[in-house]
Parts: sequence; structure tokens; C-alpha cells
Amino acid sequence: MEKFQVVNFEFLEVATQAALEGGEVLKKYWGHLSHVREKSIEGDLVTEADQESEDVIIDLLSKNFPSHKILSEESGIHEAKNQDYLWVIDPLDGTTNYTHQFPMVAVSIALFYQDKPLIGVVYNPILNELFQGVKGQGATLNQEFIHVSTVSQLKKSLLATGFAYDRRETKDNNYAEFCHLTNSCQGVRRAGSAALDLSYVACGRLDGHWEIGLRPWDVAAGALLVEEAGGKVSGFDTQELDIYARVILATNGEIHEQIRAELHQVRSR
Ligand code: IPD
Ligand code: CA
Ligand code: CA
Repeated sequence: MEKFQVVNFEFLEVATQAALEGGEVLKKYWGHLSHVREKSIEGDLVTEADQESEDVIIDLLSKNFPSHKILSEESGIHEAKNQDYLWVIDPLDGTTNYTHQFPMVAVSIALFYQDKPLIGVVYNPILNELFQGVKGQGATLNQEFIHVSTVSQLKKSLLATGFAYDRRETKDNNYAEFCHLTNSCQGVRRAGSAALDLSYVACGRLDGHWEIGLRPWDVAAGALLVEEAGGKVSGFDTQELDIYARVILATNGEIHEQIRAELHQVRSR
């Protein structure tokens, strides 16, 4: 047990260093972007800040753990010898916000061991908020332990969601779910960073978050934070979260089944 903790904290230290270095890149280009382009879908942006943040993070992780695999949004999978460890990185979650200097932006870094999350770090360099979680050891915001909220009625809750870049082309675009749940709670926020939505559930600013169309790097770190802060994460129809399944429901635990039932109701129409 003692050894396990020491190993995790070495991983946490490097993950945190990588998030801080990525965050420095985001601060450097904040308000000074000169390369903003669309990826395959309209509105799906990438900038020099995404690219350079990814470069410094991957550089640091692969220097420290050369045998670990890496999955990162802009460069995909980096194969390595050791199949047990996988780092999952979003070098800039909230790129659209970033290009408008709307300060809901973050670096998100998670480490999985044999497909189970070990470490999650989400860092908002603009608001100077660092969220860290270690499996079995809890979650913190700027070094203070955090806990999910205690709201137990959906009608008293504040939720968050988001909409994928292919929302114009896909029927499963979350619009019906958004309208339905807006009527069932105190409000639904769409802040534009899934990693921060999840971190905010972890620290009790939000009571729940659901979304359709997310990718592993959007949710990997934030989901661990929610669990380590005492909350629950799952799919819409499953008890376990599959980070590749593109749906997530994350709550304080208290309102989890209430949201699941509402989602089920609207999605079975
Ligand atoms: C996006 C954000 C947003 C979510 C989108 C994601 P990106 O990530 O997390 O909140 O609604 O679906 O793609 O592109 O800014 O890294
Ligand atoms: Ca993202
Ligand atoms: Ca991104």
C-alpha cells in the first residue's frame, strides 16, 4: 500500500508539472493568436497554443516515462513498449473559448493503468485553478480537498452540458435533452470545456454534467476527479463510464438516477 502511494505521487508530480507547462503555453498565446484554423468540421478549431501545449506535455511525459503509451487530441496515439500505462491528454480543452478569451479553458491530463484511471489533473491557467486527483486518495483544488455537492433533488440542481462540433449534421445532437433538462432543474450551463464542467462537479459548483459526443481526452481526467470527490460517473445506460463511448453522465451521486431517468425519457421518444 505504501509503495503504491509513492508510485502514484511520482506520476502525479510529473502530470502536474506537464499541466503547468502546458498552462504556461496557454498563458503565452492568450490574446496573441496568429494561427487559428478549422479541423475537419466547421467550428472545430485548432491553434498554435493547442499544438505547442501538446508538444511540451508530450515531451515531458515521454522523457519521464519513455515506455508509456500516450493518446493526445492533436497527434493521436503514440505507441510504446509498456501496454499497461496510457496517458490521455487534451492540451487545450475549450479552444473556442480560448480564441475569444472566454476564460473557461484547461489542460487535461490523465494516466490509466490497465484501463483503470490512476491520476487526473485539470489546470485552468487563466483562473489559476489546479484540480488534482489520485485513485483512492481523493481530489483537490489548489491543494485543498474538494467534495461534490449534497443537492439531492433535480429541481434544485445546477447542471452543465455541451454540444459536439457535428451538432449541425447529427440527429443525436443533445438539443432535445438540453430543453428537457432545462425544465427540470434550476439551470443548465454550457461553458465550453467538458474538463472544467467535470472539475466543477467535483468541487460542488455544479451538481451534474451530461454530454454526447465527447472524446476520451475531454473526460478522462475530470471523471476521476468526480469519483475521487465522492461523485458518480457512468454512461447513460451503463453503470461504468467507458471513456471511448462518447456519452457521459457525471453527478454528485444524489441526483444521478434522476438525470438518468430524464435522459432515458427524452431519448426514448
Ligand atoms: C470541446 C469542449 C466542449 C465540448 C466539445 C469538446 P475542445 O473540446 O470540451 O465543452 O462541448 O464537445 O470537443 O475541442 O475545446 O478541446
Ligand atoms: Ca476537448
Ligand atoms: Ca482540445
